Amino acid sequence: MTAESPPPDNPWPTLFETIAEEYDQSGVPWFQPIARGLVDLLAPRPGERFLELGPGRGALTLALAEAVGAEGWVDALDIAPSMVRLLQEEARRRGLSQVRVAVGDASRPEPPAPPYDAIGSSLVIFFLPDPVAALSEWRRLVRPGGRVGVATFQPWTGPLEQLLDLVPEFAGEGPSNRGGTPFDTDEGVAGLFEAAGFAEVRTVPRSHAIPFESLEQWQVWSRATALQRLWTGSDPGRHDEILARARSILDESRGSDGRMTLEVGIRYTLATRR
Ligand SMILES: C[S@@+](CC[C@H](N)C(=O)[O-])C[C@H]1O[C@@H](n2cnc3c(N)ncnc32)[C@H](O)[C@@H]1O
Repeated sequence: MTAESPPPDNPWPTLFETIAEEYDQSGVPWFQPIARGLVDLLAPRPGERFLELGPGRGALTLALAEAVGAEGWVDALDIAPSMVRLLQEEARRRGLSQVRVAVGDASRPEPPAPPYDAIGSSLVIFFLPDPVAALSEWRRLVRPGGRVGVATFQPWTGPLEQLLDLVPEFAGEGPSNRGGTPFDTDEGVAGLFEAAGFAEVRTVPRSHAIPFESLEQWQVWSRATALQRLWTGSDPGRHDEILARARSILDESRGSDGRMTLEVGIRYTLATRR
């Protein structure tokens, strides 16, 4: 696989490798509050052993590591080698020796120490070509009675949807995690877990408010979202036009304090291995 010729069936690994350095570095509270919601629901206990799939720059990994403490561990597998390297560096910098990060595919994970007490994955499963097959593999890696939790997006509405509509307009059709999939509904995602043999499947919806200090900060943030093709897939000569359109959408989302805020709906899906 090369950066020039991503496989048409799954372009995401190459895309994530390309944007790893700047990923989640905008200063906007985005992946962290979403991951914290998942940590609350998975309720890690000191000493537990967690597997995480698709950790990226570590929003969930680092929070889990703090929660399980030095007696527990978090094994994390990401398909993008640069994400792995950067997260290894961050865990080392924080002295979290209970974190072990390696390159691996969430579709067929081969972590070092199964079975785990729990598996967590935030904003990843919708990138996998066959989520039921992947979840069936995950099920094998968690102990009986162990739990699994994932965070996915509810469909983007309001200003977020208007921003997403700019992508086909400026960047044409391309890889998208939008529409026409089981991830459109709570029942659709729950059905994936049930088809993979999980029990006690439940959904917890939450809304997160994402504040932006400036249009520039929004632009950096957008590169780590489904909006990233606005910049990578469009003519650079039109970027000022994209920014002007985004500004008018964001101006309508200003709160009484004058701050631009986008509301994103997150769906947490939790299940247990029998
Ligand atoms: C939207 S980011 C989320 C990162 C992190 N979980 C967070 O919430 O901050 C998706 C991550 O999944 C990884 N990823 C995508 N496909 C993957 C796969 N098949 N196996 C493992 N990781 C994958 C990407 O490299 C990226 O780091």
